[in-house]
Amino acid sequence: MVHEMEKDILKVLVTEEELKARVEALGAEIAERFQGKNPLFLGVLKGSFIFMADLVRACPLKSDLEFMALSSYQNATEFSGRVQINYDLRQDITGRDIIVVEDILDSGNTLAFLKEYLLTKGAASVTIATLLDKPARRAKAITAEFVGITVPDEFVVGYGLDYAQNYRNLPYIGVLKPEVYAK
Ligand code: IMP
Ligand code: MG
Repeated sequence: MVHEMEKDILKVLVTEEELKARVEALGAEIAERFQGKNPLFLGVLKGSFIFMADLVRACPLKSDLEFMALSSYQNATEFSGRVQINYDLRQDITGRDIIVVEDILDSGNTLAFLKEYLLTKGAASVTIATLLDKPARRAKAITAEFVGITVPDEFVVGYGLDYAQNYRNLPYIGVLKPEVYAK
């Protein structure tokens, strides 16, 4: 059955098969790096939910998971870089090795804030695993230790990523048709 939202997609950037292969490779790399440790996977809602589900299943370690929800603020003319916590940690993370699971590293504002926050809360280490990296728009000096796929400076949707809360359930990563934004 053709996806109802497919009519809005200009092109597919990363296919379902490519995503599966990359996420499995990342899971294996993370398992190797954290062998014998007990990391806490921390998913950044909502965008990371599908990546998180696939990544933890591809990573055969003793681990547990947690979620946070964050939003960044932008006024009409400038990006403030201010990040707000909408759903906070539900456990003490003192001494834990945290693997932050994010959908996309764009300006870096969200992850720069989050990394600092987790260290303040007593994390022993903070490692970033991002499905996508869009380095063209980076405003903060932050890099991810684990990157699925580096993407060009285009707005992408699918596999958890949204535009106005839609398209998260597309099984691939795609670029929207320009007329979708014009509506
Ligand atoms: P930041 O700019 O690195 O702080 O990223 C903030 C958030 O913006 C990401 O976690 C995504 O949820 C969202 N975002 C950035 N670029 C895209 C995109 O191309 N498509 C969908 N969401 C995006
Ligand atoms: Mg996000």
